[in-house]
Amino acid sequence: MKVLVTGAGGMLANDLVSLLAERGYEVFAPPEDMLDVTHLDVVRAVADSCEPEIIVNCAAYTKVDDAETEEQQALTVNGFGVQNLCLVCQERDIPLVHFSTDYVFDGTKEGPYTIYDEPNPVGAYGRSKLLGEKYILWLLSKFYLIRTTWMFGTYGRNFIDTMLEIGQRQKKISVVNDQRGCPTWTRHLGEAVVGLIGTERYGVYHITNSEPTTWFDFAQEIFRLSGMDIELVPVTSDQFPTPARRPLNSVLDPFPLPQLLGREMPSWREGLREHLKQRNMVKKKGFKSKGK
Ligand SMILES: NC(=O)c1ccc[n+]([C@@H]2O[C@H](COP(=O)([O-])OP(=O)(O)OC[C@H]3O[C@@H](n4cnc5c(N)ncnc54)[C@H](OP(=O)(O)O)[C@@H]3O)[C@@H](O)[C@H]2O)c1
Repeated sequence: MKVLVTGAGGMLANDLVSLLAERGYEVFAPPEDMLDVTHLDVVRAVADSCEPEIIVNCAAYTKVDDAETEEQQALTVNGFGVQNLCLVCQERDIPLVHFSTDYVFDGTKEGPYTIYDEPNPVGAYGRSKLLGEKYILWLLSKFYLIRTTWMFGTYGRNFIDTMLEIGQRQKKISVVNDQRGCPTWTRHLGEAVVGLIGTERYGVYHITNSEPTTWFDFAQEIFRLSGMDIELVPVTSDQFPTPARRPLNSVLDPFPLPQLLGREMPSWREGLREHLKQRNMVKKKGFKSKGK
């Protein structure tokens, strides 16, 4: 089956492209300068040339803090770009796989967010991602709209890189301890996505690693597994202000994914262990992303 992957230079896309190819898909993953999703004619021309049977959208504006001052840019990629992909999927009668985020929720709920909870984003990035979700719901009947959280992978900067870099310079680090979520390894997410594609069970999904935690506990485990002796100081989000507000509760209820795949997602601890092994290997070899 032919798959077109957008945003091929990104963190998730790099792993998804490998996983899809390993499972026998014929993958087309042009770099961003050849497939800018904000131009309908470009998306159409690329689709005409490779004739995909499914499109996987990993292209996104993901700079959460910058989005507060660049909301138009975020909306253009995360909203308008998704509309373009929807139109091309509609024209070709093929499904769209798309990724969204916990940031569409305000984080005030007590328990995990279900796929039928109402979004209410508190920041510009979340609003732009919600617009993308809406275009999918307005325009398509064949889609997998996948919300995920706190992602880490080998081929992109993430919280783990930040922690390990700061840990080289400082022996004492303050980390936020009042936001809860599930760190999610891109390979585990990718494996679940590949399992989902082809089921024709279209709809909204929440796919994250299991075992909700805080950034503080996540950081502790990163340093423990890396054998680094760092003193971590738990702080509140108010003590660590950022341009964009983050939801305090980012935990997503996985229903109905486990029922569909017949298994729970692994714990983020497992993902972190595997990620750190891969990260060290890739760092030794030198990293080059697939789309660039
Ligand atoms: N990272 C997380 O923690 C997280 C959490 C929840 C959901 N998500 C969602 O998961 C998906 C993948 O995230 P990620 O972390 O892998 O993102 P990423 O590493 O930032 O990758 C996004 C890719 O899209 C490219 N892009 C930007 N504008 C584009 C355009 N107009 N046309 C084509 N490509 C464009 C980017 O290129 P440039 O780098 O050149 O701009 C980048 O290569 C996104 O939808 C994101 O919203 C991520």
